[in-house]
Amino acid sequence: MKKIRMSVNALDKKSHINPEIYGHFSEHLGRCIYNGIFVGEDSPIPNTDGIRNDIIEAFRQIKMPVLRWPGGCFADEYHWKDGIGDKASRKKMINTNWGAVSEDNSFGTHEFMRLCELVGCEPYISGNVGSGTVQELSEWVEYMTLEGGSPMSELRKANGREKPWKLKYLGIGNENWGCGGNMRAEYYVDEYRRYQSFCKNCSGNQLYKVACGPSADDYNWTEYLMKNLNSWQTNAISMHYYTIPTGDWGRKGSSTMFSDEEYYSTISSTLHIDEIITRHSEIMNRYNPENSIGLIVDEWGCWYDVEPGTNPGFLYQQNTMRDAIVAALNLNIFNAHSDRVVMANLAQVVNVLQSVILTEGEKLIKTPTFHVFDMYKTHQDGEFCYSWTEEERNTNGTPAISQSVSIKDNEMTITLANTSLENDYELDCELYGFNASSAEARILTAEVHAYNDFDSADNVSVKPYEAEASGSKLTVKLPKCSIVSVVLK
Ligand code: AHR
Repeated sequence: MKKIRMSVNALDKKSHINPEIYGHFSEHLGRCIYNGIFVGEDSPIPNTDGIRNDIIEAFRQIKMPVLRWPGGCFADEYHWKDGIGDKASRKKMINTNWGAVSEDNSFGTHEFMRLCELVGCEPYISGNVGSGTVQELSEWVEYMTLEGGSPMSELRKANGREKPWKLKYLGIGNENWGCGGNMRAEYYVDEYRRYQSFCKNCSGNQLYKVACGPSADDYNWTEYLMKNLNSWQTNAISMHYYTIPTGDWGRKGSSTMFSDEEYYSTISSTLHIDEIITRHSEIMNRYNPENSIGLIVDEWGCWYDVEPGTNPGFLYQQNTMRDAIVAALNLNIFNAHSDRVVMANLAQVVNVLQSVILTEGEKLIKTPTFHVFDMYKTHQDGEFCYSWTEEERNTNGTPAISQSVSIKDNEMTITLANTSLENDYELDCELYGFNASSAEARILTAEVHAYNDFDSADNVSVKPYEAEASGSKLTVKLPKCSIVSVVLK
């Protein structure tokens, strides 16, 4: 087994890791909401106000910090008033983006806010700019957050919710350069400025306003936004980047059947997000050196061809050990950019793209990606520290090892991924400024195509692991295709 050197400097703290970097995204798409999160009050599946209990528990387990809703592309055709009040009389619509299925609006504002309350996470509302109006969005904010005395606050009370909710995160549009209206940056910025003016801080609620940022490497969009927005109108801009194994949207490939070559090109494609974030951050640094405008990776994850025999509009895909490696790499990258990246949301949380949960009837499985979020959760609210590993490359030139290190409450979390399908490594780590007395390690490893299915839910699961730590030394083995977390005390 090849030995590799690693070093960590606990005294060199770079940035704070916002818990929201471990966020998720829910959309009215396929079986994410209906027959996923929400089964309805009358379902035989154990639920609280229609929300599956096992899903609430799973979201709590990974300490989900924030959940974005209702889209995605769906958000820019969503009219929130259709989703409140008596369920039987809620207006039906066609979900034109996702399979043209009927949407009965039985999961609306109250149900989403209830979900967030049950999970203990921040709600992140994505407002409709593409096909909505300023008045509609401003009234939605008022409905959710104003204590009383206005038609909207009274309507909320009439619908059974006396107290306003706290709403921090508000997205003003989604992908307005694409499905959210095909706007030019010039047009969107003016729309953004107008919409945000009428989304007010009501009854002590403080909004954190998110402008629709670029698609992947559209640096011109970021440049234009940063030139024309300022931090009293905008708290953050969003960015979307999906990992396509082949790099070709027309030929995304299967979620479970792929060659080694396709695996390594997936790694290469996902690592490209590092360069993309770096270059957007450079632009943001020029216009906003004081760092008061954050970058949110609103949507990220692997996007494959749908599972054979499933509705092509539902984007349902399986999730293998390859996805776990992708999640580990991205989360290490987001930690490293936590000076500018304030939030990231994996798409989509249940039954769609790189989901952490898959359901089938009453059955539920936690995907390999779920386990990565579970292993990484101790990074939340930590201070990101400098670390280095000796360079090792895979056959296609991608780095074999990825790591990130944080400290919180005198405990150090180290997360490591070995992306190699051929080589095992042993890491010899020197810790500066930290005196370790114990190590608690966990491992996620399996053959790269392995996944959890409804008949074998624990095929890929986290196991306790060995790591030797004493004083300033840590030794840990990294088998090929594995993710290891170590918490040092
Ligand atoms: O995640 C699926 C879609 O991808 C989202 O609805 C949209 O925002 C993006 O294009």
